[in-house]
Amino acid sequence: MARRRQLYEGKAKILFEGPEPGTLVQYFKDDATAFNAQKKGTITGKGVLNNRISEYLMLRLGEIGIPTHFIRRLNMREQLIREVEIIPLEVVVRNIAAGSISQRLGIQEGTRLPRSIVEYYYKNDQLGDPLVCEEHITAFGWASTQDLDDMVGLALRVNDFLSGLFLGVGILLVDFKLEFGRLWENDEMRIVLADEISPDNCRLWDAKTGEKMDKDRFRRDLGRVEEGYQEVARRLGILPEAGVRDLKGPELMQ
Ligand code: TMP
Ligand code: ASP
Repeated sequence: MARRRQLYEGKAKILFEGPEPGTLVQYFKDDATAFNAQKKGTITGKGVLNNRISEYLMLRLGEIGIPTHFIRRLNMREQLIREVEIIPLEVVVRNIAAGSISQRLGIQEGTRLPRSIVEYYYKNDQLGDPLVCEEHITAFGWASTQDLDDMVGLALRVNDFLSGLFLGVGILLVDFKLEFGRLWENDEMRIVLADEISPDNCRLWDAKTGEKMDKDRFRRDLGRVEEGYQEVARRLGILPEAGVRDLKGPELMQ
């Protein structure tokens, strides 16, 4: 198949020019990094699973009226998305203390937070994605107050919906990271959910045992990393039909 022009390569995904103007193809790799790419590895089949999981979650969110960049899945590792202008922020929503909030504020992992907490990180690898506040964001022009209001409103709706969806399959949504983009239609701008939602950017714990089913298995060398991602897909009812053995390929299915 003729390869499309590559526009950008990130740590876990590659973006190609799409078939029509205003579209892109998002390709999911098996590569995994942690701690600002100081730790590197491969999680076999991760790209296939994240493509499926993100498709599923974006579609469900679309059904409740959350605007997203997702158009449709193309094959095992690729999805068609709308081209958006990415806002250089990582919006993190936390329900239970874990990871950096536990370290920064000395809150024991697993402590239920008094309410859902939204944080912003400036997307900048050289700086290691520092935590920033609204003052920085608006003063430096990364987003306006209105953009932030829209993003927080969407992030909290996503949190409510996904918390329920995951709890329904026995998974606690501990925290997650979202990215948003600006979508221009004529002279109108809308903020839409972009990037991906997958075990790469969520913390997902088994509701009964507390077992981790997300990228923390890789970050913290817990072992059985692939199994964690597969279990999330299995519980959502979307494990690729051919089963686990088929995760490496073929590249193009359907
Ligand atoms: P943190 O506790 O390390 O700040 O992570 C919070 C959430 O954000 C967690 O679900 C993992 C996700 N995350 C990313 O998606 N990308 C990142 O670069 C980092 C640091 C966290
Ligand atoms: N995205 C992070 C990195 O920069 C990894 C993480 O999710 O912790 O490598």
